[in-house]
Amino acid sequence: MNLTNYMKERIATFNEKLLAYLNPLSIPPLLKQSMIYSIEAGGKRIRPILVMASFESFQKDFEKTIATAAALEMIHTYSLIHDDLPAMDDDDYRRGKLTNHKMFDEATAILAGDALLTYAFELISKDSNLSSEEKVYTINKLARASGPEGMIAGQVLDIAAEEKRISLKELIEIHSKKTGALITFSVHIGAYLAGASEEQLKYLDEYSYNLGLLFQVQDDILDVIGDAEKLGKPVGSDLDNEKSTYPSILGLEKAISYRDEYAKNALLALKDAGINNSYLKALVEYIAHREH
Ligand code: IPE
Ligand code: IPE
Ligand code: MG
Ligand code: MG
Ligand code: MG
Repeated sequence: MNLTNYMKERIATFNEKLLAYLNPLSIPPLLKQSMIYSIEAGGKRIRPILVMASFESFQKDFEKTIATAAALEMIHTYSLIHDDLPAMDDDDYRRGKLTNHKMFDEATAILAGDALLTYAFELISKDSNLSSEEKVYTINKLARASGPEGMIAGQVLDIAAEEKRISLKELIEIHSKKTGALITFSVHIGAYLAGASEEQLKYLDEYSYNLGLLFQVQDDILDVIGDAEKLGKPVGSDLDNEKSTYPSILGLEKAISYRDEYAKNALLALKDAGINNSYLKALVEYIAHREH
């Protein structure tokens, strides 16, 4: 099966499960509406796909990863709801629709984000597919990737770097945290749950470190030369907010050459992990050349 069909199949299964985790909640209707609005708005689901593809590089029954992948997508979605708020990037469109605070209001958007973040951990804690040890490991890794040493640090540094000139080294630190941490978690946890060896996990961490940077460079490039229609979010937002990005620091051409370098490094690490026949390989190409 080619990557496109693989993604279609897995995403269909995943989306159904994702809603099945949210729909039964007995919570204030406005809160549920707001949580489901952003979850259903149609993200690419690249992180859940990475969890499943990584798991399936070793084992078949990817059902084992669904609750973890859903928790991860909820945290990613919360991070976008908050990222778009007026106090942060102040964006009006996301995933081709009004941002959560534009559709509802700021308080509802903040609380829907909070709810997705906390519910994610509840979901893993009660996942009957995981052993107690697997749950603690997964919760620890996800908390670290999305928390103060991971994604949140990246977001704080990203805001601090507005209207400033920063070095490439500083930019890499921001990107590896704000985007890379969750991408690294995705690949790592899929392989861990499938029983990968310590050595394979080490090389996969190297693979996903490069993949995370690759992902964010392309996000920065698309903010300059992308098509807002295809992206479902406005272009030029980084320039408006005087963000430090690969294109703003290096120029577009060099940003593209870095992107290609990260792709090459990711493929090499995958080879070192001894993984040949995996969707993780095709995903490098997909992420490097995505148009949305
Ligand atoms: C956007 O992530 C935010 C970044 C970390 C660059 P995605 O591009 O994965 O967003 P969705 O989930 O497809 O909307
Ligand atoms: C968002 O990065 C990263 C997180 C939400 C953690 P960006 O601010 O670059 O994402 P977009 O461009 O709004 O999707
Ligand atoms: Mg941002
Ligand atoms: Mg943003
Ligand atoms: Mg961006």
